[in-house]
Amino acid sequence: MRKLTTFFSTLIFCYSLNSAYAGEVEVLHWWTSGGEAKSVNVLKKMLEAQGHSWKDFAVAGGGGESAMTVLKTRAISGNPPAAAQLKGPDIQEWAELGFLSNLNDVAAEEHWDDVIPKVVTDIMKYQGNYVAVPLNVHRVNWLWANPAVFAKADAKIPTTLAEFFTAADKLQAAGFIPLAHGGQNWQNATLFETLALDILGAKDYLKAFVKLDDKTLGGDKMVEVFRVLKKISHYIDSDSPGRDWNMATSMVINGTAGMQIMGDWAKGEFIAAGKLPGKDFVCVPAPGTQQQFIFNIDSFAMFELNKPEDIKAQKSLAKTILTPEFQTIFNLNKGSIPVRIDMDMKQFDSCALDSMAAFKASNKSGDLVPSMAHGLAVSEKVQGAIFDVISNFLNDPKAEPQYAAIKLARVVKAAK
Ligand code: BGC
Repeated sequence: MRKLTTFFSTLIFCYSLNSAYAGEVEVLHWWTSGGEAKSVNVLKKMLEAQGHSWKDFAVAGGGGESAMTVLKTRAISGNPPAAAQLKGPDIQEWAELGFLSNLNDVAAEEHWDDVIPKVVTDIMKYQGNYVAVPLNVHRVNWLWANPAVFAKADAKIPTTLAEFFTAADKLQAAGFIPLAHGGQNWQNATLFETLALDILGAKDYLKAFVKLDDKTLGGDKMVEVFRVLKKISHYIDSDSPGRDWNMATSMVINGTAGMQIMGDWAKGEFIAAGKLPGKDFVCVPAPGTQQQFIFNIDSFAMFELNKPEDIKAQKSLAKTILTPEFQTIFNLNKGSIPVRIDMDMKQFDSCALDSMAAFKASNKSGDLVPSMAHGLAVSEKVQGAIFDVISNFLNDPKAEPQYAAIKLARVVKAAK
C-alpha cells in the first residue's frame, strides 16, 4: 500500500512538473512534399519528446509565397504563430516591425556564434540580436539527372550550357522530356538565377541581385540570360504551367524526363522514394557553376509570445534546431547540409559532401551568392517584381530578351 502511495505521489509530482513546463508552439512552414514532411516531422518528434506540444501550421506551396500571405493575415489580426519559416531580408523587416523575440540567451548558452558561419548569423540577427534560428544550407544551383535515361539516349550529363543543349537534343530525339520543370513563378526564377550565375559570374550576379544595380540588371549579359532561358523553355513539356516542383522531380525519378534544375530539396524527394545517389540519380552543379554556390538558408523566426510556458517551449524549439542530432537527421532527409561547421559528416552522401566543400570554398573565393528566388537576396516586394518579369517573359512567345532586361531594371528600380 505504501509503495503504491509513493508511486502515485511521484507520478503527480512529475505531472505537475511537466505541466508547469510544457508549452505549445505553433509552427508555420510550407514543407508538405514527401521529403519535406518527413524532415519537419523530425523536429516535431524531438520537441514532443521534451513534453511540449507542436501545433502544425503547414501552408502548401513551394517557395513559400502562400505561407507568407497567410502569415501576414495572422500577424495583422494580432495572432502570429510561435515560429514561422522566414528568410533573409524579410527577417529584418519583421524584426523592425517589432514582431520577433530575442533569442540571445539560448544563443549564448549554446555558443551559436562559434558554430555557425558569420555569413549565416548575420541574417539571423537584427541589430546584433538573434531573432531567428537557421536549420540548414540549401544549394540552389544543382542539376538532377536520371542516368538510366541518359544511357538510353546515349547522352552525357552536362557540365556546361553547350553540353546541356547537346544532351537535351539527344534526350528529345530518344523520346524523353529533356527538362522537368514546373511553370510557377518561383521555379521560373530558380532556373533564371541559376543561368544568371553562369552567364554573369558571381560578381555581376551580386551587382544585379544584391546591389540592384540597374546597369547590370538591364545589361547585355542579362539579355543573354533571357535569351538562354527562352531556348531552354523549348525543352520543357507543354504541361508544365502550374506543376509543383516535386511532381517535376517525380518525372526524373520515374524516367519520363532526363533532368531537373532545382535546389537540393529535390534530393529529399529522391531519398524519400528510396533512390540512391550515384546509382538511381546523379547530382552535378548546374551548367557552368561548378565553383559557385547560390545559398538558400531555411530559418525559423520566433514571434513574441505571452505565456511563460509557451516561451519555454519556443526556446526549446530554438535550442533543438541547432543540436548536432537534429542537424544530422533533418538534413539527411531534407537534402541540405548542416549549418553547423563542426559536424561529423560520416552519414552524408556524395551530393552533401560536394555541397559542403563548395560552400566552404566559394565563401573564400567570393563565389558564394544569396538566392534571389528563395528570398535570401531581396525583399518580398523586389522579388515579386522580378518574378513577374521572368514569368511574363516565359509565358509570352513573342517576348524579346532585350526588352525583358530593360523591364527588369525598370521594375526593380520602382520596387526597391
Ligand atoms: C525552401 C525549401 C523548400 C523549397 C520547396 C524553398 O524556398 O527553402 O526548404 O523545400 O522551397 O518548397
